[in-house]
Amino acid sequence: MEPFDKDILSLIDRELNRYLEGEGTIYKASRHLLLAGGKRIRPYLTVITYMLKGERIEEVLPAALAVELIHNYTLIHDDIMDNDDRRRGIPTVHVVYGKPMAILAGDLLYAKAFVAVSDIRDSKKAHEVLKVLSRSCVDVCVGQAMDMEFEERENITMEEYLEMISKKTGALIVTSVEIGAIIGECSPEEREALREYAKRIGLAFQIQDDILDLIGNRDKIGKPIGSDIREGKKTLIVIHALQHLPEDRKRRLLEILGKRDAREEEIEEAIEILKDSIEFAREMVKRYVTEAKEYLKIFDKNKRKKLEDIADFIMERVY
Ligand code: IPE
Ligand code: IPE
Ligand code: MG
Ligand code: MG
Ligand code: MG
Repeated sequence: MEPFDKDILSLIDRELNRYLEGEGTIYKASRHLLLAGGKRIRPYLTVITYMLKGERIEEVLPAALAVELIHNYTLIHDDIMDNDDRRRGIPTVHVVYGKPMAILAGDLLYAKAFVAVSDIRDSKKAHEVLKVLSRSCVDVCVGQAMDMEFEERENITMEEYLEMISKKTGALIVTSVEIGAIIGECSPEEREALREYAKRIGLAFQIQDDILDLIGNRDKIGKPIGSDIREGKKTLIVIHALQHLPEDRKRRLLEILGKRDAREEEIEEAIEILKDSIEFAREMVKRYVTEAKEYLKIFDKNKRKKLEDIADFIMERVY
């Protein structure tokens, strides 16, 4: 079943185009990733949360675009940090335009996000959006720094991992939902329930991303497989394995982990070693998604359907 409403997605894409019109290499570099597609799950969440109460989609669009622009800025910089050469099925921005221009292209998208916020008509709502959006940008930076620092450490705990992903990935997903609630004028109680929902789908989303990095289909996800192993990422899967594997298997995993030039067979060997831990991660995703949907129960059955579908999509997604 198709979890996304196509009409909403095409509206988002049409408006995104408008923000990135411009001449010169920097605009071309900025459009490279943005117009290559992507699931658009964050702006979609903003719109469908807004639709719980609001009825004029145009009213929420600038806020929705702002989160997608921020997301794309983080991806361009993330691919430089993670040494990844493919995303959304095409070469990454820094591979095509070089790192200095890619950094700038990310910066341009970041700046355009705040242009979009300034396009929110109601100035009181715009100010509230600015508040949550700017704070989540701070969280993303802190989370991304933790992600990198963890590469060098062996003994990362589950708690540390969950804090890291709640910042690098969760924060913007919570914000996407929250700004939909702000523009749609949800009550404080509704807003709180939506935040709890979003926190859990945010965690589930990143854990599923970590799973797909190992067992996804390269063409479907559009990103390289095994990149997290080569980079030495401390994903939930790796942390669980390091805590549960017998000594010899653990030693072998640590030999491969962080080996930038690991051969395909070594990556496959690591994935085999991680098998049980992948299963553990799947269970975590399921649990978070189930919990997330519980928080939606305060909304009318028909109204909450799209939000429930997205939670299910996160659990089942293969891209
Ligand atoms: C990838 O996000 C980065 C993470 C936070 C895991 P998405 O999986 O939403 O990427 P696109 O936008 O669909 O390409
Ligand atoms: C990215 O996490 C989180 C961001 C804030 C961009 P990943 O590094 O796992 O995302 P992918 O797998 O490259 O999309
Ligand atoms: Mg990455
Ligand atoms: Mg990363
Ligand atoms: Mg990943």
